Order: sequence, then structure tokens, then C-alpha cells
Amino acid sequence: MIPIPLLALVAPALCLKAFDNGVGHTPQMGWNSWNKYGCNINESVIISAAETMNQLGLLQYGYEYIVMDDCYQLKERDSETGKIVVDPQRFPNGIKYLSDRVHQLGFKFGMYSSAGKFTCGRYPGSLGYEELDAQTFADWGVDYLKYDNCFNEGMSGNEKISSDRYLKMSQALNATGRTIFYSLCQWGEDNVWNWGTTLSNSWRVTGDIYDSFNRYDDRCPCESFDCAGIQGNSCSMVNIFEKAIPLAQKSGPFEGWNDLDSLEVGNGGMTTNEYKAHFTLWAILKSPLVLGNDLPRMSQTDFAIITNKDIIAINQDFSSPAVRVWKRAVKGGHLSLLVNKLADPYVFTVTLFNSGDRKERLEVKFSDIFFDHPGFQESSFTARDLWTNETMDVKQRFFTAVNKHSVKVWNFVLTDTVAANSGWGANLRSIWHLCVDTILVSKQIS
Ligand code: GAL
Repeated sequence: MIPIPLLALVAPALCLKAFDNGVGHTPQMGWNSWNKYGCNINESVIISAAETMNQLGLLQYGYEYIVMDDCYQLKERDSETGKIVVDPQRFPNGIKYLSDRVHQLGFKFGMYSSAGKFTCGRYPGSLGYEELDAQTFADWGVDYLKYDNCFNEGMSGNEKISSDRYLKMSQALNATGRTIFYSLCQWGEDNVWNWGTTLSNSWRVTGDIYDSFNRYDDRCPCESFDCAGIQGNSCSMVNIFEKAIPLAQKSGPFEGWNDLDSLEVGNGGMTTNEYKAHFTLWAILKSPLVLGNDLPRMSQTDFAIITNKDIIAINQDFSSPAVRVWKRAVKGGHLSLLVNKLADPYVFTVTLFNSGDRKERLEVKFSDIFFDHPGFQESSFTARDLWTNETMDVKQRFFTAVNKHSVKVWNFVLTDTVAANSGWGANLRSIWHLCVDTILVSKQIS
């Protein structure tokens, strides 16, 4: 058993992040305008999103950032100052007014730009204007920057070229002295998961999401990263999930977060079961949970999905993303078993995802669930279904069924007192607590 004082010495070195701007120690949560509104944004769209989030109490669930995406500018920079010019018709009171309003409502305010000559909507991008734009954002009271990859002037193709381009904005944001969450939108090109951690809080790992469960689309031609080609757009939820799974090991509380793109829950392209699956999978893979729907017109059903506190708690737990233990072909898709080891050494999350076209019945074995934690294979757990709240006592194996296009997800809490009191469990818990303390102290200092 490692003595606690020794842990205290080694933990800070184990726990510190390469890049730490004081935010993003858990995946960010909020709302972004793009999935629902695209370029059709204006002051009242953003303010009514913020007011609705306030009325619905979404901050209490963790939804903190309100992010305005592309298309808020005029097509030309100011000819004298070189600054971005906000479209006065859409934003008659300017951006500072907007950010003040968002702040008054208790939220943080995010904006968008591109590490290119233009944004994807062909408005001026920040390539070559990093310091000026970062200062403009800071002056406007911006707390979050989503930074895209369009019109990058050929400055991509390898990790060094891409990371240098994104580093410039990271340094410029830091130089403003304002805490600004830095969210890369580099679509998973140039292995962003290898270097995103050194300069940002999160990084998109695929092309744009499309509000479909698993529809194939030529605009999103790759089914996995083996096809090292165009990441594209109009990627279905299952397409993104399958790409993100092997990358999970590249993200965590000390690295930063793989961003699977904003959520589509509430936009109407999937069934309720499919949206529950979408929300659960994004949560267990520790993707940012950024809503992308029409908040003022959200249904009760969709509200219940996005406010499932147990699912959000897995996402916000101070631990790493889920690991897929197995994947089996079934009619029309796959059945997958995923396990999250949570910060509490005696709690696990077990998820079954059926992307196939018919209900699947199966036996789930502890030898699979605890493949990586053999000490628990003989232990007893209480399993609580996080969508129905039903509980069951389980040991060694259990039988269940998963509907088509659905998830089942349980929290497994150890009930075996012998294992719970063993020394190694206490040690694991201590490491986590020391890491949390280290992060919190570093946050206070910065
Ligand atoms: C894409 C990006 C989308 C959205 C859009 C705006 O490149 O992936 O999330 O920001 O640009 O034009």
C-alpha cells in the first residue's frame, strides 16, 4: 500500500494539466446557436435563449455558457482599426450589451471565429488578427471562444502547422488577462486530440453533426478514422459516436475534452429513445454537453432528457471517458457495452447501446464489465437504471434487453463491505482527492 504522504508528493506532478487557464476541468455545458439557427441569428435569438435558460433554471443543472456561433459580423473589417464589425441590423445594441445581458441572467457568454482568412460563413476570420480579435472579444466580456478551421489558407496537413495556428489564438487569449474557455473546432484533422491538450480546453473530433440517428450521408464520407480523409458535415449521431470511441483515451480531467459537437436533442430528427441514447453517449464519453435546440419551444420530454441529473453527473464527474468493453454486430447495427470508472472507486457506470434495428436480449457478465478491474468480478452491486430509476441487486451476471436504437445505463454501487474497506480502495480515493485539491489550488493561484 502506498503511504498517503508519498501520494501527496507525487500527486501534484501526476495531476497538473499541460495547459491550464483555470476552466474546463470538467466538460463544458451550455447552449450554442448553430444547430438550430445556422446563420439566422440576431440579438433577440441570443437574448431569448438566455432568458429561457434562466426561466428553466438550466444553470442549476450545469448549463453555463451561451455561445453565439457564426454570422454575427459584416463582411469587411473596419478599414481604420482592422477590427471585426458586428452587423448593426442584427445586433443594434452591439455585443457588449449582449454579453452584459447574458451575464445579468447569470450565464457566461461565448463567441465564434475561425483560424482562417474567413469564418465558414465567409465573414472575416482571425488568422493574422489573433491579438486584435482576442482583445476585442475580451473587451466585449466574452468568456468562451469556439475557434473554427475554415479558409485556413492551406495551413493544415500536419500537426505542427495546425497546432501553431491554434496556439497563436491560445496565447492571444491568455495575453488579454481575461479567463476565456478555448474550444477548438478543427473537425478532428491533424490528430487534434494529440496537441489540443497543450493549448486548449476542448477540441472537436469530427465533422459537423446532423440531426439523424444513423443516416448515411456522402458529405460525411468516413465511417472511422481509418479513412484519413474529409471529415465533412452532416454526420449522424452514430457515425460520430463510432469515431469518438477509440479517442476517448485521449481526453480526461488532466487533458481536456473530445468535443463530439453540440447536441441535437429537441431538433426533431430523432425519436425520444434515440435522443436519450444521444444524450447518454455524449455524457459518458465526456463530450461537452452543449444544447443546440430551440430553447423557448422545447417540449417537456426533451427538457426531461437534458435535465437528467444522474446522466449529467457522470459527465461532470472528475474522471475519464467511458471505455468500450465489447462491440457485437446485430441486425442493422451494433450492440456495445461501455463502462465508466467514476471518481468514487466504488461506483461504476455501465451502458449498453443498441444501434441495431430490433430489440436485443443478452446476458451481461461481470467478467466483461470488470475486465479492467478484476477485483470486482466477484463483488455485489446495486444497479440503478438512470432512465427508469429501477434498481436491482447484481452479482457475477445479469440478463436484460435493450430496445432498438436505445441505451440502458446503470450506476453500479458496491455493496460488498469487504472490498470497500480494503486498503487499495482507500488509496485510489486518496489519489483522486489529491488531484482535485491540486486542480482547485492551481485555479485559485491563476
Ligand atoms: C463549421 C462548424 C460548425 C459551425 C459552422 C459555422 O465549420 O463545424 O459547428 O460553427 O462552421 O459556419
